[in-house]
Amino acid sequence: MNAFDKRSYHFHIPGHTRGKGVYEPFKNFMGDKFFQCDMTDEFDGIGTLNPPTGPIKEAEELCAELFGAQKSLFLLNGSTVGNIAIAMALSLQGKKVIVNRNCHRSVLTGMIASGAEPLWVIPNKLEEWSLWGKINPEDIEDLLSKNNDVEMVWLTNPTYEGVVSDIKEISRICKKYDVPLVVDEAHGTLWKFNDELPAPSLDLGADIVVQSFHKTGGSMAQTSVMHIAKDTKFDVEALVHALRLLQTTSPSIILLAGLDAARAQLETEEGLHNIQVAIDNAKYLSGEIEKLKHIKQLKQSPCDPTKIFIKADNLSGIQLETILEQDYNIEVEAASDRGILMLSNIGNERSDFEYLADCLREVDKKDYTKFVKEKAKHMPMLIPEIRMNLRQAFYAEKEEVKKEDAVGRISAEVIAECPPGIAILLPGELITAEHLPYLENYEVLEVVKNAYCF
Ligand SMILES: Cc1ncc(COP(=O)(O)O)c(C=O)c1O
Repeated sequence: MNAFDKRSYHFHIPGHTRGKGVYEPFKNFMGDKFFQCDMTDEFDGIGTLNPPTGPIKEAEELCAELFGAQKSLFLLNGSTVGNIAIAMALSLQGKKVIVNRNCHRSVLTGMIASGAEPLWVIPNKLEEWSLWGKINPEDIEDLLSKNNDVEMVWLTNPTYEGVVSDIKEISRICKKYDVPLVVDEAHGTLWKFNDELPAPSLDLGADIVVQSFHKTGGSMAQTSVMHIAKDTKFDVEALVHALRLLQTTSPSIILLAGLDAARAQLETEEGLHNIQVAIDNAKYLSGEIEKLKHIKQLKQSPCDPTKIFIKADNLSGIQLETILEQDYNIEVEAASDRGILMLSNIGNERSDFEYLADCLREVDKKDYTKFVKEKAKHMPMLIPEIRMNLRQAFYAEKEEVKKEDAVGRISAEVIAECPPGIAILLPGELITAEHLPYLENYEVLEVVKNAYCF
């Protein structure tokens, strides 16, 4: 008899009482066991998330050991909550933080909340692909040499499309200036486990690294991990406290168990084999794409080979995405004005890629020249003109104006479509005519009241 078969009596949350109170069709769809497992951390023997105790603490410790961290903290609400906690604990009001402008919007949200002063780094532009590329280590060094009061360097690596920056060199520069390095490695959970993948930032000297286990690591949506380096000078307790303020007080045991299971899988031969299969599948697809005439793939070195970004002559990314979805039943990760992003994951089989390659071959041969070109632009590649501090503008008195009348005004809102969640406009930035093609979905914009920059 297992724990689920034993009759027990429940007078606590979740109020569905082990599934008995769940809408029947939904329960039948999900299966009984799912709801029997749906508990929070209030049960004897399970431990608590905030502060970590019992088996939950043990699970975090096993994760830290595997990743070589001083501490690994489980995050519910994704890397988003990790980034906001980092900002709240470590980049306080008025403190300077070097950040790449194409960071995820959770980094921005964090800095709006904390009041930090971002010093933006603009990465290389891959113009032909309408994508941001690598961050230049020299740009970090330049900013550090001109500002002796930088609190931390906070970078995203890799980009959503898998472009990798030289974190080893950036880490060396940060150490030279004695400034800690934080890396949003949301897409890099698997990197430690295969030499064909880029080296993980924690191994390259980063102080704090946030990874979305759910993106590539095999855990469930919303689950991420923050790793803290053994030798960091950051105030680790401040970070733990910030997380305690931000995380739910009813953590889902199913989600936490999913994180522990993802860690456990990475310690098995099969787990490592699955990563190799994902890499090999990606290489196979890459090789097939190479043979096509009108479809090209992004090639950057170094890169994460499991992310494949392609573009097709005469088609926008959105059009290519629609064709694959409607004509071939294929769902890709994302589409931009130029191309589409596909991921080779640990759950994919070779036959998935054979089918995908067949479909791309067909698309490559068809004539799409009659397709109407889209007007909308999706991936922001503009150099921001900053007129006000981020937080000051966010909390300033605001007014709504028609998009066409917003040129010359200062934005008071974050506009960052997801995916990839990279900002088109931030509070404090000047709205220019160049922004308008990216704002097709907006009729009005929030701007700072009575502030004009003509
Ligand atoms: C670079 C980067 N950082 C952070 C996040 C947020 O991650 P999560 O969805 O785990 O909250 C994302 C999500 O796409 C991302 O791409």
